[in-house]
Amino acid sequence: MIYEPKCKIDIETASESKIGQVDFEHIEFGKIFTDHLFECDYKDGAWQTPKIRPYGPFSLDPGARVFHYGQAVFEGMKAYKDEQGGIWLFRPDENFRRINKSAKRLAIPDFPEDYFFEGMKTLLQLDSDWIKPGLDNSLYVRPYVIATEAAIAAAPSREYKFVIMCSPAKAYYSGEVRVVFEESFSRAADGGVGFAKAAGNYAAQFYPTELAGKKGFQQIIWTDANTHEYLEEAGTMNIFFRVGDKLITSPTNDRILDGVTRKSVIQLAEDMGIACEVRRIKVQEIKDAAKNGELKEIFGAGTAAVISPISGFGHGGDTFELKKLENSYASKFKSRLVGIQHNEGDDPHNWRYAVN
Ligand code: COI
Repeated sequence: MIYEPKCKIDIETASESKIGQVDFEHIEFGKIFTDHLFECDYKDGAWQTPKIRPYGPFSLDPGARVFHYGQAVFEGMKAYKDEQGGIWLFRPDENFRRINKSAKRLAIPDFPEDYFFEGMKTLLQLDSDWIKPGLDNSLYVRPYVIATEAAIAAAPSREYKFVIMCSPAKAYYSGEVRVVFEESFSRAADGGVGFAKAAGNYAAQFYPTELAGKKGFQQIIWTDANTHEYLEEAGTMNIFFRVGDKLITSPTNDRILDGVTRKSVIQLAEDMGIACEVRRIKVQEIKDAAKNGELKEIFGAGTAAVISPISGFGHGGDTFELKKLENSYASKFKSRLVGIQHNEGDDPHNWRYAVN
């Protein structure tokens, strides 16, 4: 039976599912989309009745403001299925809070809480067959908002479209991840939009990441825009360093995304009795720790990336490779986190959110 949303949503179901054409064992991240889509338009100063309809294109005026000025924000979430068929989200209240925080910074109107949660729950139940059980499976959920009003003046749109789309997922990074500590480009500046999941933040990273790729690095760890002496975040994930037995991660601020996985790792470290310092991290400190053997691990934390170990880094012409550890912190955090997400093990902080 289809979930009965607690607010009005117009629902049109797909006449046929595409699921039979999908090889769930070999999925490229973010390339396959489920049968349905959630859409809600904003006009005349209000969000209109949302709808769920078969997945497919929508039309936009070529003058839509999103095309000129990138007025757009998004979120990254995942849904999980346990062995009994239960569907779960992980801390979705954090994503709801953050999309509206990002929206505010880009002069986009707040999205209502009941539309967000009821829309997502209804969509996930309709497409529940696309969520496969198993700890390495999830359904990536991508809410976003775009400015749709046709106008060229550089001003906030008076019309928007809020969308939730879903894509079955396995690992985000399939191979080794080596990173470069950035020395000249910048991701974000004080007072800017680095903390927001603004679409343009990601596009602005593509060119420097492409250059890094040509040198054998899959990702960049961004440094502060003023001095390039302090390590901040990786752009697709927040970043943790293990020096000796201690973890270190950058504090969040208006340049760094307040990652849900990041804050969960900090809490799990406390639960596990692992010391975690949240403070500014000097590039030189990490290079020194790598030289004297104290740097044990670097890993990224993000919704898509989950916990991604980093095997080496480059900076200033030096490269450092990290030894593979048997009982790494990264593997401990990953198994605890993924267990909670898939309804295995206790959930002392009530992070799980039941969908069905
Ligand atoms: C996520 O981790 O969900 C993100 O939004 C990052 C994106 C680059 C995939």
